[in-house]
Amino acid sequence: MKAMRTQVGIVGAGPAGLMLGHLLHLAGIDSIIIEDRAQDYVIERVRAGVLEQTTVDLLNESGVGSRLQREGMFHDGIYINVFGNRRRIDIAALTGRRITVYGQNEVVKDLIAARSSTGRPLLFEVADVSVHDLESEQPKIRFTQDNTSCEIQCDFIAGCDGSHGICRASIPSNHIRIYERIYPFGWLGILADAAPSSPELVYSVHERGFALFSMRSNAVTRLYLQCAPDEDVSKWSDDQIWDELLTRLHSNDGWKPNVGPITQKGVTGMRSFVTEPMRYGRMFLAGDAAHIVPPTGAKGLNLAMADVWRLSRAVASYYQSGCDELLDHYSEDCLRRVWRAQQFSWWMTSMLHRPNTGNPFDSRRQLAELEYVTNSRAAMTSLAENYAGFPINE
Ligand code: FAD
Ligand code: DHB
Repeated sequence: MKAMRTQVGIVGAGPAGLMLGHLLHLAGIDSIIIEDRAQDYVIERVRAGVLEQTTVDLLNESGVGSRLQREGMFHDGIYINVFGNRRRIDIAALTGRRITVYGQNEVVKDLIAARSSTGRPLLFEVADVSVHDLESEQPKIRFTQDNTSCEIQCDFIAGCDGSHGICRASIPSNHIRIYERIYPFGWLGILADAAPSSPELVYSVHERGFALFSMRSNAVTRLYLQCAPDEDVSKWSDDQIWDELLTRLHSNDGWKPNVGPITQKGVTGMRSFVTEPMRYGRMFLAGDAAHIVPPTGAKGLNLAMADVWRLSRAVASYYQSGCDELLDHYSEDCLRRVWRAQQFSWWMTSMLHRPNTGNPFDSRRQLAELEYVTNSRAAMTSLAENYAGFPINE
């Protein structure tokens, strides 16, 4: 058995685990990050794209934003296409904040580079991960690497291992409460080698279902289609995907996406999920390990960043003053932001996806809501302030 020791043992090298390791490093706190997948897999996984101003500020202020500043795409607004009528919500004018489109895999790449330059441990392809003695002052992480059993003795464990990780699952069920809602649809997402034909995102509501136009660079478009939660992506030819996208994104002003070769496709289910509290003993959950939002509000990665900012401050305060106060408030403080994002993500999802209740009342009510949200300054301001995100300490 190989024995190791650190101040904070971090399980998971997604955005939450890597950013936590980075912020702790800046505070002079030692950590070991372990990840069960390979480095290339973690870097290439295509997921989020929209960063709140708060997330961008955090990346910049912590010294990992230089490529983001050069390559990020800064957007002042979004379009909502209501059955062919494309209307713009000017987020910058309404809130003074803007959003940035920069792929999650680019954020992960930048954070791995920053970690490597510190020389602090980041172990990929570990197996059989388990956590122990969580109620004690010396919790432990056990795993195997290259057939060697390893144990890390920690002061704290950070469970940053996403929605299917082992950390949350290790908490005795009588110590946590789970809130969950599953949606009756999913998203079929593609990446295409096509120049974005709109400088801003287009969220489109159509009789046949929701579609979303986004981007990753001046040469790559990212698009999504509402589909069944268990949709078999192999049943869709590339031509069928483009036909459906062109139909659902159709705009009476003549706008349409550029078509190009599809380089990646996948289906994601949609759910809302919250764990309360986000702590058990000396183990703290952060990011998707603690909560999941449906992607329509573009909040998941941003929430993960806000969690680890809070956790790094709480841990730093503990080492500086021996004081538990911020650690004790971690869960409650995070959950305020989490529930606000849950509400916003649920609302955006319900408003933009076609109801499948079979009751025409629901469709007409949805249209009235969309008309209100895209015409009333008050309603647009509410959407814009949630979409752009709140200051990190709120
Ligand atoms: P993850 O990214 O899931 O990272 C967890 C890590 O832990 C993974 O690397 C995993 O391999 C590792 N792991 C798991 N189990 C173990 C184990 N036992 N041992 C060691 N390691 C383990 N969010 C936004 O903010 N904006 C968006 O625009 C947006 N769009 C999205 C679009 C889609 C299609 C999807 C699917 C998600 C989107 N999200 C968006 C959500 C965002 O991708 C997630 O919220 C984000 O990845 C959460 O980061 P995380 O680090 O908490 O978890
Ligand atoms: C993207 C993802 C989202 O969930 C969203 O609401 C907007 C954009 C994207 O991947 O670009």
